[in-house]
Amino acid sequence: MPATVILGAQWGDEGKGKLVDRLAEQATWVARFQGGNNAGHTVVLGDQVLKFHLLPSGITRKECHLVLGDGMVIDPWVLDKELSDWKESTGEDPRGDRLYVSERAHIILPYHRYMDGLDTKIGTTGRGIGPTYADKVNRVGLRFGDVAEVLGDEAWTKASVDRMNASLEAAGSSERVSTDGLASDIAWIHENYAMCIGNTGLMLDNALKLGEHVILEGAQGTLLDIDQGTFPFVTSSITSRGNATHGAGIHPGHVQDVIGITKAYITRVGHGAMPTEVEDEAGVHMGTVGKEFGTTTGRKRRCGWFDAVVMRQAQRINGFTGLALTKLDVLGGLEELKICVAYELDGKEITELPSTASALARCKPVYISMPGFPELPLSEWLAMAVHANESGKGISVLPAAAQQYVAKLEALVGVPCTSIGVGPDRDATIDCV
Ligand code: IMP
Ligand code: MG
Repeated sequence: MPATVILGAQWGDEGKGKLVDRLAEQATWVARFQGGNNAGHTVVLGDQVLKFHLLPSGITRKECHLVLGDGMVIDPWVLDKELSDWKESTGEDPRGDRLYVSERAHIILPYHRYMDGLDTKIGTTGRGIGPTYADKVNRVGLRFGDVAEVLGDEAWTKASVDRMNASLEAAGSSERVSTDGLASDIAWIHENYAMCIGNTGLMLDNALKLGEHVILEGAQGTLLDIDQGTFPFVTSSITSRGNATHGAGIHPGHVQDVIGITKAYITRVGHGAMPTEVEDEAGVHMGTVGKEFGTTTGRKRRCGWFDAVVMRQAQRINGFTGLALTKLDVLGGLEELKICVAYELDGKEITELPSTASALARCKPVYISMPGFPELPLSEWLAMAVHANESGKGISVLPAAAQQYVAKLEALVGVPCTSIGVGPDRDATIDCV
């Protein structure tokens, strides 16, 4: 079996966790390849609700191996908390048994969190992501595979602490780190993770050679990609297809399907322009019915109409083989559905995303209008999805206006939908036939 890549096509929070959780039924490995605990997804386990930022969604499938890959930045204390929550609920400690941390992944230390805490410009999640990637690019960062080597190395510890404190001072932070603190952090990381640090790229390559199915789980979305997103209001990693295999330590030839996840509308957290943002009744409807609050920071997500200009960018960069449309049910009850097909920038119509933040901020959406479909209780949407899948009728069970809306999105992006989410339940997803 080849690898399947799952990516957010918008500004993140498209519902990747739920899709990976569903697809993990057929996979034996789920690997993350970039980002860190800036991501967040909710795992529902019976009547328990667990929030994860690092552990891949496949954790709920006991036979699934989990990889935190080469291209990631990982806060070992956040991971520890997730692992102890998991152990408390299930009794399982997956470290070294089915959970592996790449020796190449970079470590988020308290210093990185302090630096990220100073951000006022981007609206980051404050988890230390950007400063850790900065240290990686500056080639001073610490990787999991380096921990055993710097353990007890006083010269390394002192030089690192001096560098960190100089940066904190220069940045205007009142926080400082100490040699004792860093030395004991390193010892703690070694003690807690030595049993699961390894060459995870090799593990994935071997699994693929043995015919196993690997899911490469993206975090954030294409518009938050450091190269292809809405710079500077982006995250610090490459969130797109090109990095899925690279950040996992395998070659692109392994990949067959690339699923782009997109909401039936659009949301964004943090700063930066979002041309289709609406704060009117429709925007309030999306936010409330869609429960649009961040899993990581609890911040209210900004809501807006589906933006085909954004999706055109995402499709060009990623070459999706299919779209997983999520939260279609949320639009139920809106009389008119708008879709942005182009922007008006300084009196001219454009169909591609501009590269500068100021140009994007001046873009006015050009909309087409579609008829809405009725609001239904979640139980009815769920029943519709179950019926669609059991009968093989697929999307034809949806209200006519909802079918038209989906067909229009597919035509605008030029990619067919492989599934359509109509509710939070794992089974409230229609497989397109
Ligand atoms: P950072 O990734 O914490 O550096 O934040 C940079 C930008 O990416 C901010 O606008 C964040 O709100 C946004 N961001 C980071 N991770 C996510 C995510 O998982 N979902 C949505 N937005 C995110
Ligand atoms: Mg999320």
